[in-house]
Amino acid sequence: MPKLRVGLLFGGRSVEHEVSVASAGSIMGALDPSRYEVLPICVEQSGSWRIGRTGMLPEEVARPERSDLPALAGTAAIQRMNAAASEGRVDVIFPIVHGTGGEDGSLQGFLELAGVPYVGAGVLGSAVGMDKEVSKRLLQHAGLPVVPSVLVRSAELSDPDAVVRAAFAELAPPVFVKPASLGSSVGTSKVKTPEELLPALREAARYDTKILVERAIDGREIEVAVLGGDPPQASVPGEIRPKSEFYDYESKYVDEATELLVPAPLDEERVAEVRALALRAFTLLEGAGMARVDFFLERGAERFYVNELNTLPGFTEGSMYPKLWEYSGLPYPALLDRLIELALDRHRQRETLETTYRRG
Ligand SMILES: Nc1ncnc2c1ncn2[C@@H]1O[C@H](COP(=O)(O)OP(=O)(O)O)[C@@H](O)[C@H]1O
Ligand SMILES: [Mg+2]
Repeated sequence: MPKLRVGLLFGGRSVEHEVSVASAGSIMGALDPSRYEVLPICVEQSGSWRIGRTGMLPEEVARPERSDLPALAGTAAIQRMNAAASEGRVDVIFPIVHGTGGEDGSLQGFLELAGVPYVGAGVLGSAVGMDKEVSKRLLQHAGLPVVPSVLVRSAELSDPDAVVRAAFAELAPPVFVKPASLGSSVGTSKVKTPEELLPALREAARYDTKILVERAIDGREIEVAVLGGDPPQASVPGEIRPKSEFYDYESKYVDEATELLVPAPLDEERVAEVRALALRAFTLLEGAGMARVDFFLERGAERFYVNELNTLPGFTEGSMYPKLWEYSGLPYPALLDRLIELALDRHRQRETLETTYRRG
């Protein structure tokens, strides 16, 4: 059988650039060389695309001094992708670009236009998953438990007293303040006194025009991995135990002390409950391929809240998403096979849809 050509697309213009290079390195190392030929493609911090040569390691392509590899602007990259897809030089793209421009649907839209199958959520699922406020509205509408919150638009900050009054009419400190569409806890803070609210809102407003003020949940952080397909499947739940006050940027990427527990110590009933919630959230938020669904389990009340759905979770071998599948019986290489298969199935299925109107 001819080998499947996988374009491994990584990097991106975000604070998660380095994480993405690491994830791509793990993926490349685990894809079976007898089945796949891997072409690494790096989206640089500058926004240009650098296409490596087959088999080259992601970190080599990501090195800024690689002037021997052509750097392409976005429009040139789409032409190149399109040609590569139609000439059969790339059979599927595995995008592992986190954050804005990578998991917000724009990259997925680009790949749709280029006509190439790709791993993971589509345009809508990616965009919805990226916006915590829109996600919340959809989940709430379907009766899923979400943390009570107030939406602040940055334009409203021109009348700060009104904003603070409106927020505290509904919520009492401590609260969390976060940009609606970012990841890695950037711009997120815990507010313990009323005086801290305005500075926290201003900080979050540096990153987004929509800001969420949420009740702070005193709870455990539980995560479930979901794999698409018909029907989608949920892994065993895992738990994150950051050493700092909350799971901030430092504890995600710098602090080695953050504990990942797989499986999460939970009783059977809680496990069943959180897996069912993860599957419902995945479907409601238009998930496809993969997603990690994150929860809070409130202490005392022992109640779950859906916090967020990540359509492009961390993907190094030590990351939660692959670890959860490994424990659930799907080792890392088999997980990659499955994700690629799902991408090809989804593309094939969409290809059968009519694109012109025919009577009768
Ligand atoms: N309402 C909340 N209650 C308690 N902790 C929260 C709340 N919102 C966020 N956090 C803490 O901040 C971290 C990052 O927030 P999150 O909403 O997951 O955004 P991100 O997309 O940046 O991961 C969470 O993992 C958690 O530790
Ligand atoms: Mg999170």
